[in-house]
Amino acid sequence: MAKTQSVRASLDKQPHEVASMFDGVARRYDLTNTVISAGQDRYWRWMTRRAITPRPGEQILDLAAGTGVSTVELGKSGAWCVAADFSQGMLAAGQFRDVPMVAGDAMALPFADNSFDAVTISFGLRNVADIDLAMREMLRVTKPGGRLVICEFSTPVIPVLKTVYMEYLMKALPRVARTVSSNPDAYVYLAESIRAWPNQRQLGRRVADAGWAGVKWRNLTGGVVALHRGYKLGS
Ligand SMILES: C[S@@+](CC[C@H](N)C(=O)[O-])C[C@H]1O[C@@H](n2cnc3c(N)ncnc32)[C@H](O)[C@@H]1O
Repeated sequence: MAKTQSVRASLDKQPHEVASMFDGVARRYDLTNTVISAGQDRYWRWMTRRAITPRPGEQILDLAAGTGVSTVELGKSGAWCVAADFSQGMLAAGQFRDVPMVAGDAMALPFADNSFDAVTISFGLRNVADIDLAMREMLRVTKPGGRLVICEFSTPVIPVLKTVYMEYLMKALPRVARTVSSNPDAYVYLAESIRAWPNQRQLGRRVADAGWAGVKWRNLTGGVVALHRGYKLGS
C-alpha cells in the first residue's frame, strides 16, 4: 500500500508546500471531493460550465485543474479545453482522462497573451499565493471580449446554514477526510483556508481591481460556493 503523505500547506500558501500537499492528495482526490461535498461537486461543476457557456471551436483554459475532473465537464460542450496545474502528482493522477494537460504556475502562465476565449478556475484560486497576480495573468492570456469564471468556496448567506457549515468544516470534515483521503491533514488546511477566504463582495472587488470588467457573482448551495464572472474589455 502506498505510504500516506502528511504534507499540508500553511495559510501563506508557499507554492512548493501547496504543490506537495496536492501531490499527496492526488491519488484519492476525486473520490474524497465527492464524499466530503455529499455529491454537490458535480452540481457545482455543471453550473460552472453553464456560467462559462463554452461553444464548439472555442479554446478554454481550465486553470488549477488538478486531475482534470473539472476540464472533462467543460469538454462536454465541444470546446477545446486544456488543463493546467503546478502539481505533477495531480496531473499524473488524471492521466487516464482524455484532456490535454500542461504543467504551469497560475502566477506565471506558460501561454501567450490573448490565447483563450475563456479562462476558468475551480477551487484553485484560494490556494494561490498571490491571487491578484493570478487574476492579472488570467486576464493577460484571455482574448479581448473573453470570459472569466471563478468557482470557489465562499460565505453561506443563510445564518443557520452558515453555523451548520462552519461546524462541519472545522469538526466533521477532518474526521471524514481521515477515512477517505490519502492526505487527511490537507483537509484541515482546506477548512482553514475556506474560513480565511474573502466573501463574495470582497472577492468581486479584487476581480475588478485585477482589470476584469462587468464583474458579477451568484451563490450556489446557499453561498457555500460562489461563481464570479467577468470579461476582458475589447473586441
Ligand atoms: C482543490 S484543487 C482543484 C482541482 C480542480 N480544479 C477541481 O475542480 O477539482 C486545487 C488545485 O490548484 C492547484 N494550484 C494551486 N496553486 C496553483 C498555482 N499557483 N498554479 C497552478 N496550480 C495551482 C493545485 O495544485 C491543485 O491541483
